[in-house]
Amino acid sequence: MLLSLANWQKHFENNELNNSINWLLEDVLTKEEYKNIKKSIAAFQLGESSEGRGLMQAAKNYAQTHNDPYLVSITKLFIKEEQGHALLLRRFMDKHKIPILKRNWTDDIFRKLRKNVGIELSVTVLITAEILSLIYYSALLNATNSKLLRSICEKLLRDEVEHIKYESELLNHIRKEKPFLTRQLIRFTHQFFYFGTMLVVYFSHNKVLNAGGYSFAGFWAACWQEFSCCFGQGNLLKKLAKQTSNSATVG
Ligand SMILES: [Fe+2]
Ligand SMILES: [Fe+2]
Repeated sequence: MLLSLANWQKHFENNELNNSINWLLEDVLTKEEYKNIKKSIAAFQLGESSEGRGLMQAAKNYAQTHNDPYLVSITKLFIKEEQGHALLLRRFMDKHKIPILKRNWTDDIFRKLRKNVGIELSVTVLITAEILSLIYYSALLNATNSKLLRSICEKLLRDEVEHIKYESELLNHIRKEKPFLTRQLIRFTHQFFYFGTMLVVYFSHNKVLNAGGYSFAGFWAACWQEFSCCFGQGNLLKKLAKQTSNSATVG
């Protein structure tokens, strides 16, 4: 996979101009939908609202040592896009009087893990959350009949797919220079971290995931499928995911 940061810069610049949501779309949440999404959407809104200072610093350090002209401006645009997601969700929550969340323990852990680390670790932690958010937003889209919320989810999904592509290209580029055994160790550690995060996300957001058609097996299969797309095939956990996908119930 080739990394073209110049192309990614163009992508983020163009995407910035394509940011509109029609807030006049029909927007009715049933009591059941409201109950299912209330806490869950607040947690994702909090996750989207990071200031990205750690990531920005890591990008600056990397750009300096590698003499890279793009990474800092891409990271600025990327953080702005994520903050745009937080604003979209916030506006929707305000419309439905869903209170915002100021802190939660998973968000605290993710922020701490990204603090004062290099670009590789920072993006590794980030992509772990991003892949899971992709599956969450597709569940949220299926879990509601509100046209407005569905269109917000579609926008988030379009953006997040590109974020994941960008981050996996960047990580694969950084990792390819490392010795084989180091790469395997990094991959295993990342999978272990991803596995733990996946369990936390499932048990924290199972109401939305189930309402959106993901049983535990379906969620497990979808998570590993996305992970494989980003980081290639060939390990025990992915084989297990394949087996479970045969019995998975995805809506
Ligand atoms: Fe986002
Ligand atoms: Fe993202």
